[in-house]
Amino acid sequence: MTDTAIIYSSFMGKTRKIAKYIADRLNADIFDLKVQSNIDISGYSRIILGTGVHAGRPYARVTKFIEDNRSELNDKEVVLFISCLYDGDKAANQCSEITMEYQLSNSVYFSTRSQKNDAGLSKDVDVFIERMKS
Ligand SMILES: Cc1cc2nc3c(=O)[nH]c(=O)nc-3n(C[C@H](O)[C@H](O)[C@H](O)COP(=O)(O)O)c2cc1C
Repeated sequence: MTDTAIIYSSFMGKTRKIAKYIADRLNADIFDLKVQSNIDISGYSRIILGTGVHAGRPYARVTKFIEDNRSELNDKEVVLFISCLYDGDKAANQCSEITMEYQLSNSVYFSTRSQKNDAGLSKDVDVFIERMKS
């Protein structure tokens, strides 16, 4: 069994596409919170959470998942990725506000405005995957 689970919520499909792309390359299990909200994370040492942003807010399903699993998450490596429109300082501020609100320490954002890889995703996704592999 893999040690990594990717758990995400997506409205328009971008976060889903990123989550699947990462899962393929890390051999991770993947869960869509729209399909399944009660996920047994006991067997994973690393949880990668993914959300989009609407009006500065992360998606409610991700917020609820973190609230419901707070104590178990505290014992794991948790990494949040945010799929967003903003880039630069605005995106960085948005990302750090959400990260603080979630009481997490490890997060990254992927702007839909940044340079794309061959899969049409931000090149930052590939950098992130390499970081997760090392
Ligand atoms: C109604 C609406 C509000 C949005 N608000 C923000 C925002 O406040 N900040 C931001 O960076 N992106 C914002 N976006 C862009 C989305 O977060 C971005 O497209 C994201 O990739 C969507 O993910 P999804 O396709 O998985 O739902 C907004 C998009 C929509 C449709």
